[in-house]
Amino acid sequence: MKVAIVGASGAVGQEFLRVLEERDFPLDELVLFGSSRSAGRKYTFRGKEIEVKLLQHNDDFKGVDIAFTSAGAGTSKEFAETITKYGAVMIDNSSAFRMDNDIPLVVPEVNAEDALNRPRGIIANPNCTTIQMVVALKAIENLTHIKRVHVSTYQAASGAGAAAMDELYEQYRQVLANEPVKVEKFAYQLAFNLIPQIDVFTDNGYTKEEMKMYNETRKIMHSDVKVSATCVRVPALRSHSESIWIETERPVSVEEAREAFSKGEGLVLMDNPAEKEYPMPLFLAGKDPVYVGRIRKDLADENGLTFWIVGDQIKKGAALNAVQIAEYLIKVKNIG
Ligand SMILES: NC(=O)c1ccc[n+]([C@@H]2O[C@H](COP(=O)([O-])OP(=O)(O)OC[C@H]3O[C@@H](n4cnc5c(N)ncnc54)[C@H](OP(=O)(O)O)[C@@H]3O)[C@@H](O)[C@H]2O)c1
Repeated sequence: MKVAIVGASGAVGQEFLRVLEERDFPLDELVLFGSSRSAGRKYTFRGKEIEVKLLQHNDDFKGVDIAFTSAGAGTSKEFAETITKYGAVMIDNSSAFRMDNDIPLVVPEVNAEDALNRPRGIIANPNCTTIQMVVALKAIENLTHIKRVHVSTYQAASGAGAAAMDELYEQYRQVLANEPVKVEKFAYQLAFNLIPQIDVFTDNGYTKEEMKMYNETRKIMHSDVKVSATCVRVPALRSHSESIWIETERPVSVEEAREAFSKGEGLVLMDNPAEKEYPMPLFLAGKDPVYVGRIRKDLADENGLTFWIVGDQIKKGAALNAVQIAEYLIKVKNIG
């Protein structure tokens, strides 16, 4: 098995190196790609140094079985043909192809089989906030249909990339040192602040990030569920949190929901308010599962339930989800 990572120097690319090593992914050769900014840089994988190659329109992907791409939507669009033309399966972390009809959008806990039908050789990894939400929703959807979702997200700085994480560190330092604060990656200073805007605004007043949660949830879950989201950038470094209200076809009790979450694939129940036990991003960075807590009946809706989830968005929200897709293809002997 020959595997490629495109965007190896980035926040997600670096996580790919860790996840492939951590899970002992069955690969014989790993090749890394980047732009001229990182080409020539070396990263260690399984004790060996691998040099980043410049991503170009050539035959470098001949013999590659799986290409994990995380270099932005523009790069994915430009290089998809080059990457897939010799048969490599491209598992793409960008938003480039997610809503295309002939591209499966996959979260293995929810719709793994969709990955088997990929006419263009491309499988899209959903948006990070959507991935962690659908893992939790699936546990309830197995009990009764979810009709509506209201969600507020609390998204960490690293969701905007490695440089954004550095900017947050630097902003805190600048504030404490009484220096002018440099703002490049976000619309405003994020240190000591919250920013109720992620991605650009669309015509209906929602941001693109919020509309991704609406559209991608429906595609992954094969559902008519309606999702109304407010996405907020918060000064956490890593792991996104979400406050979720759902309306189901029949009422679901707290006990029933707890049982469903505790058995749900990819989920960990962390819900013991008496002992102050609930998921928090600071303590769950770097973990694989999505954590669920603060489960309550919605006071405003008989068929409503509300809960809080936290998941590492670079891991389950990006690299891990993509690697799990590849593991599924290997398991069902669909690749390699
Ligand atoms: N961060 C997250 O939590 C997260 C979660 C889910 C999905 N994603 C998606 O994953 C992708 C990468 O995000 P990130 O957070 O890892 O960003 P990042 O830290 O800014 O890294 C971007 C990566 O893309 C590479 N790149 C950019 N232009 C390129 C080109 N023309 N050719 C080859 N490589 C190029 C960069 O390489 P150089 O260093 O050589 O420029 C770098 O490795 C984005 O599409 C993002 O939306 C991110």
